[in-house]
Amino acid sequence: MPPTSADPTLVSENLLTDNPALYEQTFPDSGERNARFVHDLVTEFSDPAMAAGTTEAIPGARLLDVGAGTGRDAARLAHLGYRVSGIDISARMVAYARAKYPGLDIRVGDARAVTVAEPVDVVTCLGSTLLHLHHSEDILAALTRFASCLRAGGLLVLEMRNAAFLLTDRGRRELLDHESVRRVEWEGVEYTSRTSLSIDLPAQLLRRRRVWTWDGCVEPVTQDTAWRLLFPRELRHLLCLAGFDVVALFDRPGPLTEPAWPGDGVLGEELDDDRLHVVARRRADTVTAVR
Ligand SMILES: C[S@@+](CC[C@H](N)C(=O)[O-])C[C@H]1O[C@@H](n2cnc3c(N)ncnc32)[C@H](O)[C@@H]1O
Repeated sequence: MPPTSADPTLVSENLLTDNPALYEQTFPDSGERNARFVHDLVTEFSDPAMAAGTTEAIPGARLLDVGAGTGRDAARLAHLGYRVSGIDISARMVAYARAKYPGLDIRVGDARAVTVAEPVDVVTCLGSTLLHLHHSEDILAALTRFASCLRAGGLLVLEMRNAAFLLTDRGRRELLDHESVRRVEWEGVEYTSRTSLSIDLPAQLLRRRRVWTWDGCVEPVTQDTAWRLLFPRELRHLLCLAGFDVVALFDRPGPLTEPAWPGDGVLGEELDDDRLHVVARRRADTVTAVR
């Protein structure tokens, strides 16, 4: 949809990723929770090579953030001492991240084709980035690339929606049975979004329709997005095919759960909550392909 003359800042169908400042305002993350979550898991599950490493130890480990978005997680991880690089498919997100964090190596790239100059110790893929890939072959391609970017024994940390939540009454009630309304003020204009979710069973997708209005808007902006509904057993299988051993798979706590990470330190394995978190270790028999 072309921008309306009433508001030059609404530039495309993908309002949030094309307007990263609005994305950050819509999804504020004041607690630096993603970085703390990643760092705690890496510390807990790293192998002796990473913890004691010949040359590298945590912090100082190499980390690749896939779907780096506005760069805020990458920046916080760098602040914790990781040597961070990141990719994102959105050129606007990458331009924003590079302008805001000039010291960070963030590039435009697709998860399905990502390569690294040197194997990394950690790959992160947070905020349901993986679920923007709707076909199993694409998810497997991305996971295989993640494995090939990691050194043997390196860790993959994933955070995303949990499809199994929709098998519960609470999940259907919280996600499907109502429209959610959110108001964001940005550069003096109040934007209102109305969001509804639906399930596309044949495609195994959770579809989202979000309609934006603002003062003086001539025509609302409607955006359709979808996430792949990925179930825990399915994800475990794909990870195994891609060359990983799953070392932790849990629904809570996490950066977006309530209570939020670190909670009481117990990793919930009932898998009936709305987020899914995975730590997987790259097997030694996986082929590494650095560029
Ligand atoms: C919801 S945002 C998450 C951003 C950040 N990781 C966070 O947790 O705040 C999802 C990001 O994934 C990116 N993305 C979607 N598909 C991608 C792909 N195939 N390869 C790389 N990035 C992708 C989008 O551009 C967007 O910035």
